[in-house]
Amino acid sequence: MPFVKLADQSDLPPIDEAKEFPCNGKTICIANVNGSYSAMDNICLHRGGPLGQGMIEDGKVVCPWHGWAWDTETGRADQDPRMQVAVYPLKIENGEVLVEI
Ligand code: FES
Repeated sequence: MPFVKLADQSDLPPIDEAKEFPCNGKTICIANVNGSYSAMDNICLHRGGPLGQGMIEDGKVVCPWHGWAWDTETGRADQDPRMQVAVYPLKIENGEVLVEI
């Protein structure tokens, strides 16, 4: 799959925050955990909450609806490790944020 441009680097969230970005008809959650960025599906697999509107706690994205915590590397939830959101490769080149979706 090709990398596609998601955003400009200057649009990325500050440390320990997440943010939503539209991409290819989906919404992607970018999380900044201690300065390292990850891209995952924005839709919480519990009941569909918007992960990019959540907080970061202990390196995980916490869904704003009922607090499930999603690992930004594995995409798995603490509350039910069988649940796994898609995590996408991300790179930053020449000030552009690219994800492989
Ligand atoms: S919808 Fe995300 S925790 Fe319930």
